[in-house]
Amino acid sequence: MLKFNKIYKEYDTPILGPLSLDIKKNSFVSILGSSGAGKSTLLRLASNIIKPTSGSVEYLNNEKPNIGFVFQDPTLLPWRSVIDNVLLPAELTSENKKLSKQKAYFWLSKVGLEGKENSLPNQLSGGQKMRVSIARAMVQDCSLLLMDEPFAALDEVTRNKLEDDLLDIWEKNKLTVLFVTHSVTEAVYLAERVLVMSSSPGKILDDVVITEKRSRDDSQQSSEFFSKINYLTNILKKENNE
Ligand SMILES: Nc1ncnc2c1ncn2[C@@H]1O[C@H](COP(=O)(O)OP(=O)(O)OP(=O)(O)O)[C@@H](O)[C@H]1O
Ligand SMILES: [Mg+2]
Repeated sequence: MLKFNKIYKEYDTPILGPLSLDIKKNSFVSILGSSGAGKSTLLRLASNIIKPTSGSVEYLNNEKPNIGFVFQDPTLLPWRSVIDNVLLPAELTSENKKLSKQKAYFWLSKVGLEGKENSLPNQLSGGQKMRVSIARAMVQDCSLLLMDEPFAALDEVTRNKLEDDLLDIWEKNKLTVLFVTHSVTEAVYLAERVLVMSSSPGKILDDVVITEKRSRDDSQQSSEFFSKINYLTNILKKENNE
């Protein structure tokens, strides 16, 4: 789906690289790493918002996919209603307004916001705003979904619900997901593969495949699931002490 080819990124100093990475189509990949490791930079490179200083980002069949970007801050326009926020990217790219509107209503109901279409962002809770931002990404029929700590600000119950909704959307829509988080448990629960980034400059420190079946019930969870969480937690601790 996506290939990072010997990427380097510099601003005044080297930020990232060398970094080579192959992301398979339809995979769910989580990215962990300390603050400043370059996780958000990696997502921006993946979406072509910024260009690498050297190296290249390649897409499958050399075709840039539709990309949905969910930022940590839901970035809604306060004067636009929920439905008009969701329609914003489609207004810029799509010619079929009627179809876009149908899709916007569909995705808002998928994320549990039926009836809130005409509310303004300041009438929504933090979790609801995040749902709007997920619907906004999905309305573009994205096949690559980039998520930067999307659930970090939410309470645990809402967060778990949104994680499971996301898995459902991922499974049903043949998406490729790159998911940045600071939560090791969340990373392991969601993903089939967890990347750990180290900082200064950002590199891939470890690349762990998760084969365990996911469950929220601790007693159903395999010991490998916990040993992967421990393993990853220890890598991050070591990395932070250096
Ligand atoms: N536009 C920019 N100009 C200069 N330096 C930048 C710019 N964007 C990011 N950086 C630097 O690049 C490094 C990586 O930043 P990035 O935002 O990718 O980190 P991160 O891993 O997402 O951190 P966090 O977990 O805190 O979100 C940081 O040292 C940051 O200061
Ligand atoms: Mg970041």
